[in-house]
Amino acid sequence: MLPAYLPNPIAALVGGGPPIDLGRNFTDGKRIFGDGKTFRGLIIGIFAGIGIGLVQIWVSGVYGWENLPQQTYLSITLLATGALLGDVCKSFFKRRLGKERGTKWPIADMYDLVAGALLMVLIFDPDWLFANMTLLIFVLILILTPVLHRGINIIGYHFRVKEVPW
Ligand code: CTP
Ligand code: MG
Repeated sequence: MLPAYLPNPIAALVGGGPPIDLGRNFTDGKRIFGDGKTFRGLIIGIFAGIGIGLVQIWVSGVYGWENLPQQTYLSITLLATGALLGDVCKSFFKRRLGKERGTKWPIADMYDLVAGALLMVLIFDPDWLFANMTLLIFVLILILTPVLHRGINIIGYHFRVKEVPW
């Protein structure tokens, strides 16, 4: 899941510049995605996820990592892209509910990237998903995601990368 987990914190680190919705509103008069979703965050975040995936492919086979799911060029691309597309989709629905950028939306803020990443793999590389996903791994992802999400965001808040600790 590293290629899915890395894009968000990297987007928070490097984000800025023109927003993906170019400042435009949806039919309800509210922003489509909001200022928190930028091209820079999206693109560099995806490349970061693919980058860590390349490292995983490169080091697989050493240090007893043979037992871990074997990443492929396709799987790392889908996981990284899906994670940030899930994040953008989340923001779309968050805006529709009238929640301002950066406000808390408990479950959705945490699992958007998991849903996006796994959905992308399910659609475009189901063989990889079913070869590597077990119930145990899925449960571990569900437990690990909020822990990592909260932990990393608190660190980001302290280093003033994030404006809020969630
Ligand atoms: N970010 C970005 N581009 C993205 C995703 C994130 O630039 N595609 C950056 C933004 O600076 C954003 C920060 O990462 O403020 C934190 O991301 P996130 O918590 O997902 O965004 P929020 O600001 O909370 O906005 P939203 O309410 O839409 O989730
Ligand atoms: Mg947020």
